Amino acid sequence: MISTKCTFAGLELDSPVILSASPISSNPQNIIRAQEFGAGAVILRSLFEEQITDGAYDEQSTHPEMADYIIQSKAMEYLNHIAECKKVSTLPIIASINCHSSNNWTDFAKSIEAAGANAIELNIMTLPEKKKGTEGNKVTTSSEIESELFDIAVGVKNAVDIPVVVKLSPYLTSVYDVAYRLSYLGMDGITLFNRFFTPEIDLETMEINAKMNYSTPGSIHHGLRWTSILFDEVNTDLSASTGIYTADDALKMILAGSTTVQLCSAIYTDGLKAISEINEGIHKWMIHHNYKRLEDFRGKLSVKNNEGSKFTRTQFIEHLGTHKN
Ligand SMILES: Cc1cc2nc3c(=O)[nH]c(=O)nc-3n(C[C@H](O)[C@H](O)[C@H](O)COP(=O)(O)O)c2cc1C
Repeated sequence: MISTKCTFAGLELDSPVILSASPISSNPQNIIRAQEFGAGAVILRSLFEEQITDGAYDEQSTHPEMADYIIQSKAMEYLNHIAECKKVSTLPIIASINCHSSNNWTDFAKSIEAAGANAIELNIMTLPEKKKGTEGNKVTTSSEIESELFDIAVGVKNAVDIPVVVKLSPYLTSVYDVAYRLSYLGMDGITLFNRFFTPEIDLETMEINAKMNYSTPGSIHHGLRWTSILFDEVNTDLSASTGIYTADDALKMILAGSTTVQLCSAIYTDGLKAISEINEGIHKWMIHHNYKRLEDFRGKLSVKNNEGSKFTRTQFIEHLGTHKN
């Protein structure tokens, strides 16, 4: 009997295929359908840090007028949405917060837990910037960005009992070090990687346009490399995000060491049925290779399990001089 069950960040999932954070999960009907198509869990679209702080969230507030303000706020809407999703589905519901600082909001995670979320994913991203009020070219340094990232993660982890997953930017100088330290700080999972909104330049109108551009099939390789390097090196579960469209993509990620795989662009492009197609493909491949459980092959192609793995190579050296026109 083949099983695609897995334990991710302490959550028991029937499938490793997760609906990634996006507005798709804003509609409870999509969560019901994701469950019908065999998703293992759903990550809700992110609530932004600013929506918590602009909503004047303050647990200690002694101003009664604040209560009305909070009730009207996006933060309150988000809590209601979590509760509604929990009503319509038995899937684990992972709330998501998009944040860049640990200022005055991390205790809000308690309200997310109280609303019924089974876990929290933190989408942490800071674009380095010139610091206001400083002389010369004082810009945010990588160590300041990382130290803020750890403060956020620890602030939220200390506030709640549910699992905390950190979704990383692909643009860190040392993914290895950041992942290692997050695991040391007790994070329950790491998502590799977030993909950012990418503005484009329209050459006709000479304007910057904000068209939605999804990831393309085949863009799994940065995540594949880091999953394979981090598997069994960090003491936390890995979840793959970016470019997963097919069962083959998902299987490659699991072979590299992912516990779960997240779908976003594939759902926008192919619909929620992509979830069941990937589940079926994983199942067929497991029959073909005579595997009964995901853990029988998870990490088989990680760097840990393959001395001299090509995943640690960054240069094209062997291919130099071999190209013929
Ligand atoms: C339209 C859209 C909305 C997204 N919204 C969120 C979000 O609210 N929170 C978040 O953490 N990631 C968000 N993402 C990023 C996705 O969750 C995912 O990490 C990224 O798109 C890479 O995966 P993919 O290649 O499957 O799209 C969004 C992506 C898209 C395309």
